[in-house]
Amino acid sequence: MFAERVLSGMRPTGSLHLGHYHGVLKNWVRLQAEYPCFFFVADWHALTTHYETPDVIEQSVWDMVVDWLAAGVDPNQSTLFIQSKVPEHAELFLLLSMGTPLGWLERVPTYKDQIEKLKEKDLQTYGFLGYPLLQAADILIYRAQFVPVGEDQVPHVEMTREVARRFNYLYGREPGFEEKALEAVKKLGSKRAKMYAELRVAYQERGDDEALEQAKALLQEAQSLSMGDRERLFGFLEGARKIILPEPQALLTSASRMPGIDGQKMSKSYGNTISIRETPEEVTRSIRTMPTDPARVRRTDPGDPARCPVWQLHAVYSSEETKQWVEKECKSAGIGCLECKQPVIDAILLEQQPMFERAQMYLDDPSLLRSIIADGSDKARKVAQETMREVREAMGLAYD
Ligand code: TRP
Ligand code: SF4
Repeated sequence: MFAERVLSGMRPTGSLHLGHYHGVLKNWVRLQAEYPCFFFVADWHALTTHYETPDVIEQSVWDMVVDWLAAGVDPNQSTLFIQSKVPEHAELFLLLSMGTPLGWLERVPTYKDQIEKLKEKDLQTYGFLGYPLLQAADILIYRAQFVPVGEDQVPHVEMTREVARRFNYLYGREPGFEEKALEAVKKLGSKRAKMYAELRVAYQERGDDEALEQAKALLQEAQSLSMGDRERLFGFLEGARKIILPEPQALLTSASRMPGIDGQKMSKSYGNTISIRETPEEVTRSIRTMPTDPARVRRTDPGDPARCPVWQLHAVYSSEETKQWVEKECKSAGIGCLECKQPVIDAILLEQQPMFERAQMYLDDPSLLRSIIADGSDKARKVAQETMREVREAMGLAYD
């Protein structure tokens, strides 16, 4: 119905590390080749938790965009922008807030979790409660079909679906909807019109899901329809409502098992990260000082990779051959730990090299970075404005 579109956002609250690279950015790079993608810096979301230290956000915004570009996110393929440069997000957030039950927000698992976890911050705020609804506005304003997110964010996408459903239910009623829909059916041409009508009956009377899918595909292909008629006919399939805000789907990013330099999951809060653009000297030092199997006190003590955090990095970076070598030579004390760490160091440096090269271009010429974001924000804004035009009209706010 609506163009396939992928949307995702990231909060600028610190520098990105290899966990972000393996968990999120590689996925974005893959997606941008398949779909039109919109990726944005969620600076307003960052403010919900960092409202007392906005300078952290300001610094992180540009660093984060450089990290995205370094990782291979391509501004020619994806639209990159900053949330606050598209103030329409705030307008949709406000309008959606009118009809969103408080319970929906209070029930989101991240809400109580984060208040518990971030005890040093006062998150008993109106803005923090509204976090998932702002996220819903981010998604719905682009009528995104797919939202790549980690597991913790799935409830937010679920809530977004409920918000969309409720919106369409409340405001998708058009005067004369049925007549308009029937007019639109005619525009399909007689053969398609007949098929559409049959499939619609099959779905509505017999709950035939296959028929619904076929009818959707038929509309997708129909060239002769205006955008408005197409939406009407999508709505007409499932009821007598126009779908203004389509329901998105979460694209679950498979949990990254990227281990940090202490064997726990790599995370800023554990202080065990390697940042995307960490210097080769730092990377080398971090890995060389990593703890290993505590049983290997002396070089001659045999070890067990299963008890060693370095082994987990081999699992990410090393070939089968290298891994076999590690297993064998660790258990027989054939190699020392520094020897064992070297292939990991080499692999990380190799992975980072193209990232450094790409980043350098933007560090040398920051105006390039600004113009990517300015262009992306303009492009995003056009899409957002189009949605808002329809949203205002549906809610009776189009006075001119
Ligand atoms: N809440 C997301 C996170 O913490 C960031 C985010 C904000 C987002 N708006 C979004 C992600 C819209 C996907 C879509 O990771
Ligand atoms: Fe760990 Fe390698 Fe040392 Fe074995 S040889 S303890 S796997 S670093």
